Amino acid sequence: MAEAKKLYIKTYGCQMNVYDSERMAEALGASGYVTTDKAEDADMILLNTCHIREKAAEKVYSELGRFKPLKAARPDLKIGVAGCVAQAEGEEIMRRQPLVDLVVGPQTYHRLPAMEAAIRGGARAVDTEFPEEDKFEHLPKPPQARRGPTAFLTVQEGCDKFCAFCVVPYTRGAEVSRPAARLLSEAQDLVSRGVREITLLGQNVNAYHGAGPDGTWTLARLIRELAKIDGLARIRFTTSHPNDMEDDLIAAHGDEPKLMPYLHLPVQSGSDRILKAMNRKHTAADYLRLVERLRAARPDLLLSGDFIVGFPGETDQDFEETMDLVRAVGYGQAYSFKYSARPGTPAAERAGVPDDVARDRLHRLQALLSSQQRAAQDAMIGRNVSVLLEKQGRMPGQMVGKSEYLHAVHVTDPRARAGDIARLRIVASGPNSLSGVLI
Ligand code: 5AD
Ligand code: SF4
Repeated sequence: MAEAKKLYIKTYGCQMNVYDSERMAEALGASGYVTTDKAEDADMILLNTCHIREKAAEKVYSELGRFKPLKAARPDLKIGVAGCVAQAEGEEIMRRQPLVDLVVGPQTYHRLPAMEAAIRGGARAVDTEFPEEDKFEHLPKPPQARRGPTAFLTVQEGCDKFCAFCVVPYTRGAEVSRPAARLLSEAQDLVSRGVREITLLGQNVNAYHGAGPDGTWTLARLIRELAKIDGLARIRFTTSHPNDMEDDLIAAHGDEPKLMPYLHLPVQSGSDRILKAMNRKHTAADYLRLVERLRAARPDLLLSGDFIVGFPGETDQDFEETMDLVRAVGYGQAYSFKYSARPGTPAAERAGVPDDVARDRLHRLQALLSSQQRAAQDAMIGRNVSVLLEKQGRMPGQMVGKSEYLHAVHVTDPRARAGDIARLRIVASGPNSLSGVLI
């Protein structure tokens, strides 16, 4: 048998890119590739890129430049760009970087085997279509290998919301939900390979409306059916839009024990003026009411969010309203970003806030969010939690996993094994993790 070719994939950005990288590796596995974690060993290097924030494309070009010596030493080395920068830049990548052999967008990577054959023949290949066919239906079945205890599962892709700052509707395309039966069988397959926790992914995951055997299923219905799978212990989903948080999904947080009490629910800003300019189609009060209803259903729900500071037109007063909203909600964890103009989005045409002002706001917001995060962590001390143990920690004999609330938790005990859900009492809280002892 010919020696397997080696594939090195570097993944940027969101969890969906992590999921896509796994699928690309499986697609190229069918063409005889095995993955390697060393770029120097690779026969093919793929960058799975993210376009969401500042200088995304420039960073990809400079990363590509660094492969020049590798390609000079091994002319057979093939280099590809995938993901959202590939989608946004397309042919331009070929023009600007002659060492690139292949450009593939997020909706066409099922065509990688054919593209690989073409580039082995000396061609350069670009495919950034939004094809009619469902890429998932054209991907090879994954090998029946054992897996770690956690996995992602893309259930929905794309976005029709067109927030004024966001490139996703342009790079990922229109909103599409995968058929429920496919998702149930993919989940069943993951569980049979050792997975105990599945995170359902979508840019707008709670807008899920997939074809089911008895009509359209909502995300809540999908979660309830997935929860019937024996051996699947935990379900999570990300990322949600406040406007799609329907009653049945809120209720599921209260009465579906396998749905974990953690929710990433971005609001972006606490100012109604800015929310309107962002085309979010909800107010700060709408969001606060929603949080109240979610907490009525599940009082210990830990909330996470995304924030943008320095959006065009944001005044000191607008920013203070964001700070007020953060204080009112009390986040367990959150992400915050300085606004960056993304080419092609409506907000990119508008005059921005001076950089030093935006930077100062970001510092203040991040200080508040990290004090909330720390407080939420410290509040876990003395409490009993369930931790899905994932892997060995850095210290000898240590295992690390995630609590229901997605806190990283360490435990050092010979009885702790990967894949177990351990009952732990939290005894200490560090900067980014908790430690516990077996009960
Ligand atoms: N500038 C800054 N942050 C952005 N995000 C999306 N687009 C931009 C942008 N142009 C943030 C939003 C989103 C998260 C994934 O990234 O907060 O929820
Ligand atoms: Fe980046 Fe958004 Fe694309 Fe994910 S969907 S890779 S976060 S641009």
